[in-house]
Amino acid sequence: MLWTLIKTIWLFLPAYTPNNFAVIFGGGKPIDLGKNFVDGKRILGDGKTFRGFFGGLFGGLITGLAQYKIEQIAGLEFFTTMPLSSALTLFLLLSLGSLTGDLLGSFIKRRLGIERGGKAPLLDQLDFLVVAIVFASLHERFSSLYTAEVIVIALILTPLLHKLINVIAYLLRLKDVPW
Ligand code: CTP
Ligand code: MG
Repeated sequence: MLWTLIKTIWLFLPAYTPNNFAVIFGGGKPIDLGKNFVDGKRILGDGKTFRGFFGGLFGGLITGLAQYKIEQIAGLEFFTTMPLSSALTLFLLLSLGSLTGDLLGSFIKRRLGIERGGKAPLLDQLDFLVVAIVFASLHERFSSLYTAEVIVIALILTPLLHKLINVIAYLLRLKDVPW
């Protein structure tokens, strides 16, 4: 069971790290350019920036690359069951999906009238993962690596991990609120 948990985290790590890299690299011009939606509220809000998005994308790719190298050194075979070019495509899908899911989550929060940084239980914790899974499912090797078991465990485990990581980011003063 512990091994399955570790394997699940390993397989989804390139989808987890983009949002943390976005926190570190974030700032500057917001993706919605400060504009409001038809409901008069911000489209996405000041918490979604270009720097955060591209910093996050870079972070997810670097994470995946590091994992690929670690697998080669440690003799593990998850991502290394495919050639590097194919693995890179998967890392790109996981990172892009994660960041897109995060944007979608903010879009939904704004429509619900939740201000930037406001709490949206489950949405905050699963938006990025669900869209990362959808994007990654486009990859030819998806179903062989991401079994139904791995996906179910990820959906249960992620809200718990997300909480833990955000509390750490809060304690390091990288975030204003512990969620
Ligand atoms: N961030 C960013 N660009 C992104 C995603 C995140 O700059 N595309 C940075 C912002 O500084 C943001 C922080 O990372 O405040 C934390 O991300 P998140 O919790 O997703 O944003 P919130 O500020 O909570 O905004 P929202 O309510 O829209 O989720
Ligand atoms: Mg937030």
